[in-house]
Amino acid sequence: MEYAVSGKNASALKTDCLILPLDDKASLLPADLPAETVSQIRQLIKDGDFNGKRGQTLLIHHPAGLPARRLLMLGSGDLPLSSSAFLKLVGGAIQALKATGSRSIAWQLHADMVRDQDLIWQLREGTRAAADALYQFDECRSKPSPANALRSMTFIGAGSKAALQQAVREGEAIAAGVTLCRDLGNRPPNLCYPAYLTEQARALAKQYPQLKVSVISEQQAEKLGMGAFCAVARGSEREGQIIVMQYKGAKGAPVALVGKGITFDTGGISLKPGAAMDEMKYDMGGAASVFGTVKTVCELGLPIHLVAVVAAAENMPDGRASRPGDIVTTLSGQTVEILNTDAEGRLVLCDALTWVQQKHKPHTVIDIATLTGACVVALGSHAQAVFANDHELAKALLDAGDETADRGWPMPLWDDYQEQLDSPFADMANIGGPKAGSVTAACFLSRFTKEVKWAHLDIAGTAWVSAGKLKGATGRPVPLLTRYLMNLAG
Ligand code: BES
Ligand code: MN
Ligand code: ZN
Repeated sequence: MEYAVSGKNASALKTDCLILPLDDKASLLPADLPAETVSQIRQLIKDGDFNGKRGQTLLIHHPAGLPARRLLMLGSGDLPLSSSAFLKLVGGAIQALKATGSRSIAWQLHADMVRDQDLIWQLREGTRAAADALYQFDECRSKPSPANALRSMTFIGAGSKAALQQAVREGEAIAAGVTLCRDLGNRPPNLCYPAYLTEQARALAKQYPQLKVSVISEQQAEKLGMGAFCAVARGSEREGQIIVMQYKGAKGAPVALVGKGITFDTGGISLKPGAAMDEMKYDMGGAASVFGTVKTVCELGLPIHLVAVVAAAENMPDGRASRPGDIVTTLSGQTVEILNTDAEGRLVLCDALTWVQQKHKPHTVIDIATLTGACVVALGSHAQAVFANDHELAKALLDAGDETADRGWPMPLWDDYQEQLDSPFADMANIGGPKAGSVTAACFLSRFTKEVKWAHLDIAGTAWVSAGKLKGATGRPVPLLTRYLMNLAG
């Protein structure tokens, strides 16, 4: 799909389908629309065929007075829209037009349509929302599903052409990152395992020469003293690997992203129940979002220094797997009693967090992980949990989430929770009991990030959709992370 901007009037633009967002009062009708078109639209409202309810669509063939072949009346609902309502509206229009023969479509922009957001925002995020709605994962079918006809989308709006086009380009770059994140998440766990993720990193480095990739093998990790990472990786035939991608678009200390890359989580010896276990292929969603973010950063050539680390392993039960009761020594020197092998995410992350601090001296570290089922209980699938040991960092991430409708919600990291991790035999246990499971998981990680500004995003509820037609990876939180980094770049 190609995305473009046009300063032409809707009444002059040749397109297969003109999309007009309209509320019940038709208050969004462009001023230049021919009188015949306006009266046709008003008639349809009067006749009760269209009421402007949010998301409603009415497709008209050969609309009166327009060069467009079709007109899609798109219910906007009450104005102005929230950011997320706008993105849903764009997605809904694309869904409705997928089924038509339209190749080219045009979206009529309105400066005041979205609360607190300007045209630049609408272009950038609208482009991303359209790309998101067009996403399909077909690579594992013997025959691909039938392609839709859509080829180009033009946004109609007035303003500095260069600025508007730049916004569309940014939207496309973010969409490319989201798409990569979704593809990696959806790819089945027999194909997508740690060494495969390493190949993906190498492929990215080939595409973007600014990117440098290095890998810590499981053997090297053992030698380095990553006892927690290796305790997880050990139980699988597939070698665990820590993948490091460095993008140096600026001098100075880097910002570090660390992704949980469990390519399949059986639970290990603390085996999970069978129901929906297939969804544990998404347990590398944090890693996938790190890859997607790196891709967008490279596409945009952001002037930042970024170190991205993926802790990739498969959590399997076999003869070498860790047992409940095992005690391991982490790279930090702290010891952990593994009371539940299903709490593996914090084990692979703690060593990656320590390593990136020792090696790269980042000013800020953000880890992203499908860490706890408890997070899904707490927040459902609308917001990711945001934990941070620094107020400004938390605010920057929450703001980035609000700006992109990829929202986070703040969670506590109070010391009061720490005692739940007490162990009679080691410095800490890897689980904190039934209460506040997502908080104690974050508390565990906080013990490895005391000397740096650090945030932890628990994306267990947001990284994928569980059931039904929409089942699959969402690409979250690539929009949040890329926004945060773009804001950092200034
Ligand atoms: N990957 C899971 C968390 C998860 C579960 C995410 C379900 C999304 C849906 C993680 O490794 C895990 O198993 N966590 C345990 C921790 C518990 C043993 C303390 C959990 O949440 O049950
Ligand atoms: Mn687990
Ligand atoms: Zn897991």
